[in-house]
Amino acid sequence: MIETRILTADDWRTWRELRLAALTEAPDAFGARLADWQGDGDREERWRARLAIPGSHNITAVLDGRPAGMVSGVPGPRGDTAELISLWVGPEARGRGVGDHLIQEVERWALRCGVGVLRLAVAPGNTHAGALYRRHGFAATDEPGDEMASGEREIIMVKYLTAEDRTARDVTAGDLSGGCAPPADSAGCAPRADPVPGG
Ligand SMILES: CC(C)(COP(=O)(O)OP(=O)(O)OC[C@H]1O[C@@H](n2cnc3c(N)ncnc32)[C@H](O)[C@@H]1OP(=O)(O)O)[C@@H](O)C(=O)NCCC(=O)NCCS
Repeated sequence: MIETRILTADDWRTWRELRLAALTEAPDAFGARLADWQGDGDREERWRARLAIPGSHNITAVLDGRPAGMVSGVPGPRGDTAELISLWVGPEARGRGVGDHLIQEVERWALRCGVGVLRLAVAPGNTHAGALYRRHGFAATDEPGDEMASGEREIIMVKYLTAEDRTARDVTAGDLSGGCAPPADSAGCAPRADPVPGG
């Protein structure tokens, strides 16, 4: 059984453990590098700040009682967009629906926030992630993504969320009781001014 845990800044140790595992196991899948979060970069306040991105929705999937994967939804630069970032499923949990579960959780959050467009960036060679995203209705755009270490550019994929999606998921836009509600120190689903640190 897959359960969802929503993380706050106080859960930074859980996020840290998963994120360091993700950056170690799949270094080519993320804009951030492991080295960025090690040594001097590996500080409690930095992990807390990552989880406290205003309006973000940071979750782990717990499979058979153990954290098995992670993802974040973060408000985009415009009020009606949001970004899905930091998706990772541990190798031992792959092929068991954890990626599906995490993407659906971000979608539900986006729908509650009244978001119309969900965006993400994926490396061109990341076939497993690309297939997973396409299965969930994301489509590649022509928009050039960030340049990666390989010199290639990330592919930007988008999914347009519709009124039907809201109905199908039984979600009311702006329903702050269901998890769009911001932590006390954040700005809810407000547009994000700063770039997301490290995907
Ligand atoms: C992309 C990712 C989240 C998919 O996780 P998932 O929940 O297993 O996804 P799926 O259910 O779609 O996997 C479908 C199949 O591909 C296999 N698979 C998925 N990712 C794989 C990988 N990286 N390497 C080899 N096989 C993989 C699964 O085991 C499953 O096989 P099965 O059909 O024989 O059971 C996961 O591979 C991952 O975390 N990769 C590294 C990080 C990453 O790429 N993140 C996305 C950044 S944009």
